Amino acid sequence: MLKPEQIAIVKATAPVVAQHAERITNVFYPLMFERYPEVRQVFNQAHQHGGTQPRALANAIVAYASNIENLDALRGAVERIVHKHVSLNITPPQYRIVGECLMEAIGRVLGDAVTSDVAAAWSAAYWQLAELLIAAEEREYQRKAAAPGGWRGTRRLRVLERKRESEVITSFWLEAADGGALMDFEPGQYLGLRLDIDGEIVQRNYSLSDSPNGRTYRISVKREPGGLVSNFLHDRVQPGFELDAFAPAGEFTLTDNSDPVLLLTAGVGQTPALPMLDRALARGRQVVYLHAALNSAVHAFRERIDALAARHANLRHAYIYSEPLAEDRPHHRGLVTREILQQYAPRDAEVYFLGPKPFMVQVNRMLRELRFAAERIRYEFFGPLEALD
Ligand SMILES: Cc1cc2nc3c(=O)[nH]c(=O)nc-3n(C[C@H](O)[C@H](O)[C@H](O)COP(=O)(O)OP(=O)(O)OC[C@H]3O[C@@H](n4cnc5c(N)ncnc54)[C@H](O)[C@@H]3O)c2cc1C
Ligand code: HEM
Repeated sequence: MLKPEQIAIVKATAPVVAQHAERITNVFYPLMFERYPEVRQVFNQAHQHGGTQPRALANAIVAYASNIENLDALRGAVERIVHKHVSLNITPPQYRIVGECLMEAIGRVLGDAVTSDVAAAWSAAYWQLAELLIAAEEREYQRKAAAPGGWRGTRRLRVLERKRESEVITSFWLEAADGGALMDFEPGQYLGLRLDIDGEIVQRNYSLSDSPNGRTYRISVKREPGGLVSNFLHDRVQPGFELDAFAPAGEFTLTDNSDPVLLLTAGVGQTPALPMLDRALARGRQVVYLHAALNSAVHAFRERIDALAARHANLRHAYIYSEPLAEDRPHHRGLVTREILQQYAPRDAEVYFLGPKPFMVQVNRMLRELRFAAERIRYEFFGPLEALD
């Protein structure tokens, strides 16, 4: 527990930490990777170079310091961090490493302003948050280990089959190499994969793109230009290949109610929406499925959505192509617009969206202009959470 005087110090110094938060995290990560090279492999280095992960950590620290007396306000953010950590198997000893390097980075950036009292207060604050996360993560690890077909740590999965879904997306079906069952997951959740690529250990998340069936998981991967893991999967992974996976995690999941739902995706952002769609239809919900793509060459899962729409009167769907080929006949051409949203989206719908960042920024703005309630709008990032405004 933080002492009252430590709370006062954290509150008093929070503005200066906030002002320098990105500098602190930009010092923190290189310091930690140099001192503890073994930690490097759990992080996606592209998120370091793009600055999204240092920014996400900086935002988390600032939000925490500002709410030090009202941690309940952080519940959503904490839940997201816990799921992300659990998907990558973050462990308590790593918190000591992060704490040490973070405190040193704060000292380096803020210099003399960090008196011994200030250092002690921030260290206590760090450990209060760390213990909260560690406890929540442990609960999740235990829950997954106890679930039928569940596990803790890595489990060996074998590629059963692969299928080209579009010019850029390929699906991989995975089964347990031990022949056992695979735990159910919530539609919208993702796997953490650990691969050894020519001696380099790398970890990535991939959404589960088909509904749970107890025996196999499916992931659908877009080839990312210059991307390490996606190109490895596309070019070198065939049936029989084995990899390590952590149990499914994620809090971007379909709320269980009977309200209408709008699933709005672009590109490979479609993957978590596919099991969400199955679940929503199974619950008899009214569903609108809007998908944006460049054109038919890169449009995955069209046959599946068309087939579902033919069978379910409660599913309305439309495709929007920004660069249609001559023979393409999408429902709409160009980008997703307010008019398209107005035409399809029920006013009382819960909205789930995912796609490239510019798409998400625009969609978020349009939904707000159309007065969709903020608490009914949910979105996911295929990377650390970023600001949409
Ligand atoms: C929750 C979640 C779910 C996801 N679900 C899916 C999914 O269903 N399908 C899917 O395809 N992806 C998904 N992703 C994204 C996926 O995890 C990977 O980020 C993606 O496949 C790219 O990984 P990569 O190793 O191929 O590319 P990386 O090697 O990580 O590179 C990504 C990009 O950064 C560039 N880059 C890399 N290193 C540097 C550097 N040093 N300097 C400058 N640029 C650099 C690369 O050229 C490339 O363009 C998901 C991510 C998350 C967090
Ligand atoms: C109090 C301590 C910590 C805080 C506040 C924190 C905060 C965060 C935040 C905000 C994210 C981004 C979540 C998202 O939006 O996806 C994140 C992701 C992550 N965290 Fe932590 N974290 C802490 C401790 C740790 C520790 C101890 C490790 C292990 C070394 C760790 C490893 C990771 C990894 C690997 C990711 C994903 C990074 C990526 O996608 O590149 N974190 N954390």
